[in-house]
Amino acid sequence: MWRPFKPSGEIVEMNPSEIRLRTTLYFGPGAVGRMEDILGRYRRRGARRVGIVTGTKSHILSGAWDRVEEALEKNDMEFELSSGVPPNPTVDVIEEAVELFKSFGPEVIVGIGGGSPIDASKAAGALLKSEGKSALDLYTYRFHPKEALPIVAVNLTHGTGTEVDRYAVATIPEKRVKLGAASDAMYPEFAVDDPELTLSLPEKQSLYVTLDAVNHAVEAATTTVTSRFTEMLSRECLGVVADHLPRLKDHLKDVEVRGALMHASMVAGVAIDNSRAHITHLLEHALSALKPEVPHGLGLAILLPAVLKEIYPARAEVLSRLLRPIVPGLKGREEEAEAVAREVERWTFSVGVEEKLSDIGIGEEDVGELVEIAFSSPALKGTEKLSPVGLTREMARRIYENSLYPLSE
Ligand SMILES: [Fe+2]
Repeated sequence: MWRPFKPSGEIVEMNPSEIRLRTTLYFGPGAVGRMEDILGRYRRRGARRVGIVTGTKSHILSGAWDRVEEALEKNDMEFELSSGVPPNPTVDVIEEAVELFKSFGPEVIVGIGGGSPIDASKAAGALLKSEGKSALDLYTYRFHPKEALPIVAVNLTHGTGTEVDRYAVATIPEKRVKLGAASDAMYPEFAVDDPELTLSLPEKQSLYVTLDAVNHAVEAATTTVTSRFTEMLSRECLGVVADHLPRLKDHLKDVEVRGALMHASMVAGVAIDNSRAHITHLLEHALSALKPEVPHGLGLAILLPAVLKEIYPARAEVLSRLLRPIVPGLKGREEEAEAVAREVERWTFSVGVEEKLSDIGIGEEDVGELVEIAFSSPALKGTEKLSPVGLTREMARRIYENSLYPLSE
């Protein structure tokens, strides 16, 4: 009987796995030019109205908006714009977009941005097909979308991988939780990864989003449902990031460097779509609920070394293969855990992400609350199933405490 495999640490050749490959993605410099053809396909099927979800300025600064507007005009399509989706969007922000679109009646939804606008567009696309359901229903898992309007994602960063996966993340402020909804209906039907659209992304943000991709790769390769396929994608991500991220700060306008990082982020997106994330994302989501202003990738980068210290012994083989591009010489032995954590932290510092929790206003007195938020999250159950180690409150506490200051101190 086919059933998901629970690996003991080694990836087995015949490991039964569910391989997900859904979105048609146009990748590379100039790929945004495909928007005319993408929208044309919907136009030929009779669609006239497009609902567009964006952030505040990135769709303009990146140059994406001009190209999308041109594609709309060429296809004689009308649009309604829901702009201003902030980082870490709330369920209310998604509701506003849905309300705005309801009277307009779009037949297609286009999300242009980093993870937040694209995730909001996916959630809105699903809610617009489900009369009477709210964003709160979606994010408290009372509602699981079976269908959605066709979604097109124009990606403007290199981190989330959301353009090729079925996830959409949002925060419920009153419950202090940040959660990911997942549905087969929320895959973008088409996506654009055009590195030229990332050239205006500021340095810090560029670093943080890349560290998000690194965490996707590490987590996806170490879940209980990982596969050879996922490990391949994760290793590709780490290899490419190790080669290109150190060059990023001096090459912010370099399409080749941006393209490489966009590729790394995309393959890590397919990896989490096939395997999901686990502890680092759960604990970062708790951090984000307490401090919504902390960028997702930064929170993950801060926690990664302490998480590795906990999970490395359980997945030493896989993690040694994965992390060798940034920590050369790993042998895959359990006792390397401590050194791996320190070396990975040294590496994140060297590429320009030097903050720890104490630098972003989190102190020892906040650790108990963070653990409580994480352990009251509806995502806890899933994380427990997927995590390579049994996650306890003590372990979560240790991870936060070990992330307050640099490990080397
Ligand atoms: Fe993420």
